[in-house]
Amino acid sequence: MPQAKLAQLSQALEQRAAQQLLRVPVTLERYDGRLLVVAGKSYLNFSANDYLGLATEPQVLQAFAEGAARFGAGSSGSPLVTGQHAVHQQLSDSLADWLGVERVLLFSSGFAANQAMLLSLSNKTDTLLLDKLSHASLIDAALHSEAGLKRFAHNDIAALQNLLGRVSQPMVVTEGVFSMDGDSPDLPAMLALCQRYDAPLLLDDAHGLGVLGPQGRGTAAAQGLSQSALFCTMANFGKALGSGGAFIGGSKTVLDYIEQFGRHYIYSTALPPPLCAAVLKSIELCRADNWRRDKLYSNIVLFRTLAADLALLNSQSAIQGVVLGSSERALAVSNQLKQQGIWLSAIRPPTVPQGSARLRITLSAAHTADDITLLVQQLRQVL
Ligand SMILES: Cc1ncc(COP(=O)(O)O)c(C=O)c1O
Repeated sequence: MPQAKLAQLSQALEQRAAQQLLRVPVTLERYDGRLLVVAGKSYLNFSANDYLGLATEPQVLQAFAEGAARFGAGSSGSPLVTGQHAVHQQLSDSLADWLGVERVLLFSSGFAANQAMLLSLSNKTDTLLLDKLSHASLIDAALHSEAGLKRFAHNDIAALQNLLGRVSQPMVVTEGVFSMDGDSPDLPAMLALCQRYDAPLLLDDAHGLGVLGPQGRGTAAAQGLSQSALFCTMANFGKALGSGGAFIGGSKTVLDYIEQFGRHYIYSTALPPPLCAAVLKSIELCRADNWRRDKLYSNIVLFRTLAADLALLNSQSAIQGVVLGSSERALAVSNQLKQQGIWLSAIRPPTVPQGSARLRITLSAAHTADDITLLVQQLRQVL
């Protein structure tokens, strides 16, 4: 065993633990959206991204099972070799039709899709302009790309304009709903600015798709924009659509290019076909039924009304944050809530900036009004 390397790794782990930053995976014994069971104890779940409750929706589960029986458990190859089955094509077509884009490519995860999007579309003459609070997958992709990288203050159009005027060949990257703060940029203003500087606008809508806009078409639609006005959009299936995997959608030229040059697309096994069948069913339900979104929105309004006296972040989305500052405090509060039967993970650096450890509360259509009332009562007690 190479002792020096192992000692280095152990030291880094000990340091993380000493800083209260060690992450410990939790094994769920049961999950039904609203409740989860860990080590034999049931908790009200306010930590999942299953905003519409589709991860356990019986019609989605049935589509998954039928997909497996029809197409097999795995895709058997990368999409450009033998991995593309009829159900992948159906899913791509359904996404393109739902969002009003010319073409869609599927990816094994949102992380991989963001890598492919930024690494393939930018080159060394470009400058990527990313929001300060961008997701790790976007930051890593930008750092690994040949392009230059600049960050602008969170959702700050004036700061973006200042950068746009100073860099060469800018490409602007933002998120529909920010994963830790739950807020959104002013996309029409951002798009107008991008058009003025001839800069492509790339959107990660992981937390907007399914939840926002008519038929759940996402943040751009919710803000009155046509999806085709954006250079391309990435969103994943592991949040509101309840399963896993991701896609990039946009014009034929952009997607044809990613198909040829996106290494995370070319050199990776295509999504399992049953998963595609399940996502197809989730999209059908998302488009046809408003009641899940209506229920989610009445839960968000109820939560924000009942918790108006708590120091909530300014978010109208399913992601609600209470910043507590230190990691120790966030962990202690999260543990106290667990003792009261509420599962609410503490989010600590480096996921959020230093000094802004927090509770990240995610609301779902699966919650009842009583669940929300109980959550706020318990929050008030522990805070
Ligand atoms: C904004 C955002 N982008 C990308 C990802 C990565 O997606 P996935 O979990 O499918 O890899 C996530 C989720 O973790 C996210 O919140």
